[in-house]
Amino acid sequence: MATTQDPRPVHLSVNGKPCRGMAAPRLHLADFLRGELKLTGTHVGCEHGVCGACTVLVDGVSARSCLMLAVQGEGCSITTVEGLAADEHDTHPLQQAFHELHALQCGFCTPGILMSLSELLAANPDPDEDTVRDVLSGHLCRCTGYQNIVAAALRAAQLLRERGGHAR
Ligand code: FES
Ligand code: FES
Repeated sequence: MATTQDPRPVHLSVNGKPCRGMAAPRLHLADFLRGELKLTGTHVGCEHGVCGACTVLVDGVSARSCLMLAVQGEGCSITTVEGLAADEHDTHPLQQAFHELHALQCGFCTPGILMSLSELLAANPDPDEDTVRDVLSGHLCRCTGYQNIVAAALRAAQLLRERGGHAR
């Protein structure tokens, strides 16, 4: 007999492609992305909205995917870190800058930070350091100070401006 806890279909767009998966009513979006859709670039740390590791874009707006149910994603357009670059041979300016400036160590926090910074740079192509630090205040990095992350964000903004604002 069917119960209210049974998985149900969820239809959404992920990284520009239509997707369908099954989600129990209480499954959060992060676990749906990782487990059902095998998009393991989205990391899960605290699972209660504090660390920022699970950040994705939902209809272009950053969201903590550990605080959103997968079923709430029905009909939404989700962008994960796998969707930042145009394809597997491409590198997004944020990824390029993080690589160039050694802005990551273990990389656990990095996908979430990249997604929040991509939202920032889409709205503000020339942010100042304080603005970058304000965005980063929602992310916890266990490994390092934030100096290289800030520098990489500013470098990515410069790279994007040189590309005429186009990430790809
Ligand atoms: S895992 Fe979602 S904010 Fe930490
Ligand atoms: S690079 Fe390790 S948690 Fe940030």
